[in-house]
Amino acid sequence: MLTLLNLLKDGRFHSGEALGIALGISRSAVWKQLQHLEAELGLSINKVRGRGYQLAAPLTLLDPLKIGALAAVWPITVFDSIDSTNAEALRAINQGRAAPFLVLAERQISGRGRRGRKWVSPFAENLYYSLVLRIDGGMRQLEGLSLVVGLAVMHALRKLGVAGAGLKWPNDVLVGNKKIAGILLELVGDPADVCHVVLGIGINVNMQVAEAVGQQWTSIRLETGKSCDRNVLVAELNEQLRGYIQRHQVDGFSALQEEWEKDHMWQGRPVSLIAGVSHIEGVVLGIDSQGALRLKVDGVEKVFSGGELSLRLRDDS
Ligand code: ATP
Ligand code: BTN
Repeated sequence: MLTLLNLLKDGRFHSGEALGIALGISRSAVWKQLQHLEAELGLSINKVRGRGYQLAAPLTLLDPLKIGALAAVWPITVFDSIDSTNAEALRAINQGRAAPFLVLAERQISGRGRRGRKWVSPFAENLYYSLVLRIDGGMRQLEGLSLVVGLAVMHALRKLGVAGAGLKWPNDVLVGNKKIAGILLELVGDPADVCHVVLGIGINVNMQVAEAVGQQWTSIRLETGKSCDRNVLVAELNEQLRGYIQRHQVDGFSALQEEWEKDHMWQGRPVSLIAGVSHIEGVVLGIDSQGALRLKVDGVEKVFSGGELSLRLRDDS
């Protein structure tokens, strides 16, 4: 099916006959595959008598060779379709694949967000990126790591023209109040000894409509007005991550604390911190040297950390 898509991706008209010859299949088999592309992948195909078939919008698919030529950092595996790139990365670790390596997909059927939420992942529109690292330096190498990933994602977005990209504790990347990227770290092994961490990153790239997303969101395309080649974005993200991961490994999170706070969009803002059923009202003071959130609550500084915490701006802010 993707071979047919590769022929159509230029956005030009192709006759059923020419497509059949190129694929070595009958015209009716071409027709069936076209219907499958529309139904399965949600693509829109123009069908014009006498001219043939044309993708409603040209597509650039992920291409490991193109990414490698721009920034050959880690071995890459690209899937046309997968349940979740994080789930696939975890399976590969369990099967003994040597880290570091990168898993990408054109779409995710069960893309996951924090706390089991669903991450909307349509075909060929966005980036679904899972980088696997081996950690053998103990807890220090994990401290603040998800915040460091946020910094790398934010800078990659800025390089691609999203000037307003900023951070929201612990690891969202926003433009104004709209989410443009989400980060989900998953760990296997013993964090105090040797373990593997999957750095799962979802970036909205060319998505322009998504009714299923249950919060305010945006994409690179919506922010810049231009479509973005996801291969270029992967190469930029690879470079940013390589730099930040190295700085984090050598100097620890404390060396990046100030830099992170500078780009925290909610510094000094009144917020509500949601921890299960309880809500804590406070004002954001910043983060500590391990990436934990510092809030002023009833005039006293308190520190919060953990994967189950969510921050919301207070209605009166
Ligand atoms: P917090 O981390 O503070 O709880 P959050 O509301 O963004 O913030 P997450 O669990 O981090 O919650 O992210 C999952 C949420 O992201 C989902 O509930 C969904 O509303 C939203 N979401 C799903 N897919 C996308 C997408 N492609 N772009 C933006 N948001 C999405
Ligand atoms: C969040 O904000 O809740 C985190 C979203 C993380 C989404 C990415 S997409 C690539 C990787 N694979 C997944 O299933 N999730 C992460």
